[in-house]
Amino acid sequence: MPPSHDDPGRVGIRELPKLVTLHRAVARRQRLMAEPDLTYLFWESTLRCNLRCSHCGSSCEATSPVDELSTDQVINILRTIGEDFDASRIFVSITGGEPLLRKDLYEVVAEMTRLGMMSCIVTNGTLLTVPRAKRLHDAGMRTVSVSIDGAKSQHEAVRGKDSYDKALAGITAARQAGMVDVEAITCVRHDNLDSLPQIEAAVRAAGANLWRLITVDMMGRLAGTCDPSLWLSPADVRRTFDFLVKRRTELNRCKESFDVQFSCGGFLGARREEAVRPIDSQCFAGLCVGSILCDGQVAACPSLPRSWAQGSALDHRFSAIWRTQFQMHRTTGWRRTGPCTSCDWFGLCLGGGLHERVAQPDAFCWLHRQTDGSLAMIDPSGD
Ligand SMILES: C[S@@+](CC[C@H](N)C(=O)[O-])C[C@H]1O[C@@H](n2cnc3c(N)ncnc32)[C@H](O)[C@@H]1O
Ligand code: SF4
Ligand code: SF4
Repeated sequence: MPPSHDDPGRVGIRELPKLVTLHRAVARRQRLMAEPDLTYLFWESTLRCNLRCSHCGSSCEATSPVDELSTDQVINILRTIGEDFDASRIFVSITGGEPLLRKDLYEVVAEMTRLGMMSCIVTNGTLLTVPRAKRLHDAGMRTVSVSIDGAKSQHEAVRGKDSYDKALAGITAARQAGMVDVEAITCVRHDNLDSLPQIEAAVRAAGANLWRLITVDMMGRLAGTCDPSLWLSPADVRRTFDFLVKRRTELNRCKESFDVQFSCGGFLGARREEAVRPIDSQCFAGLCVGSILCDGQVAACPSLPRSWAQGSALDHRFSAIWRTQFQMHRTTGWRRTGPCTSCDWFGLCLGGGLHERVAQPDAFCWLHRQTDGSLAMIDPSGD
């Protein structure tokens, strides 16, 4: 069922200016469907990890299930990107697995910088010492994101013993190394929602100036599972948004140099978009966002199934894959299926976030998730 008019998507007279802004944003996405423009590149540097988080969407272990790109291979791919695109407009997000397990990380970051690209790592923080953060800074990196998944006990419930203090120390190390932006990323769950003020205080005290709230997707180790402590009920989603609206208003009023925002691919409704994040935050996979997976496959986003990769950058130039493949990402056909078929909001939403559609096909719509957003494939009661 598409959302009814008595729902979070409903707009009143006060939301009309927002609708205009949202229409401009969707027009930009539609232009990118016709003329993709690579500006955000994920590099899935490895699938190895020193932690074994219970919610890991990439199912990471100590060893990789696929052959990782060698240093030369990844540098060669980056050089072709530097030749074929305007590298100065490309921001590379280095993710994993745990990027700090790659011994050549500093060399690869230095090459990105030499090519004119900006870069950041997303890390569990446990290996981020001051000397390593300084080496990344010396290589040209200016942004680091560290995952902090709750207050200490909540973080360690999913990330393992002794991971919390080290992760906070990682934030402090990044700050001491001179990073411009140090971001904390929190997977909001039913069981850490009450601790959001406490988490904010901890990451700010450690040195973060940005805080991103994400939600758990039922992929990787969580694929097909049901753990109600991880999933946000509709009331939890509304509370998360209420918290964000309140904090963003307060921070803005006090002109504080700390920002908190929500991050997911789907449309949140005209009242929530802009109130909880910048207006242009919906899913851009395959439009301006592309990825080099750890074995050289080229995909729209590392959170999509690997079978959705569009070709290997070891066999073809990245730009050739980017320009000739990705057709399904650049059409609306598949997006206008299921509950989106007759939804009044399709024109502003374009069918939600792609990896969320795949991870939880019965619960990807953020308008539904604010009202009746049960995870239909999961029945915690077992009835
Ligand atoms: C896959 S991790 C890789 C980087 C690093 N190892 C870390 O944990 O930060 C990248 C981000 O994805 C988040 N993540 C992991 N599993 C997830 C899931 N099932 N749903 C949503 N986000 C997830 C992590 O919390 C982290 O912020
Ligand atoms: S979420 Fe990050 S730290 Fe945790 S197991 Fe996955 S890759 Fe490792
Ligand atoms: S995901 Fe978007 S288009 Fe699909 S039903 Fe929800 S609001 Fe409508």
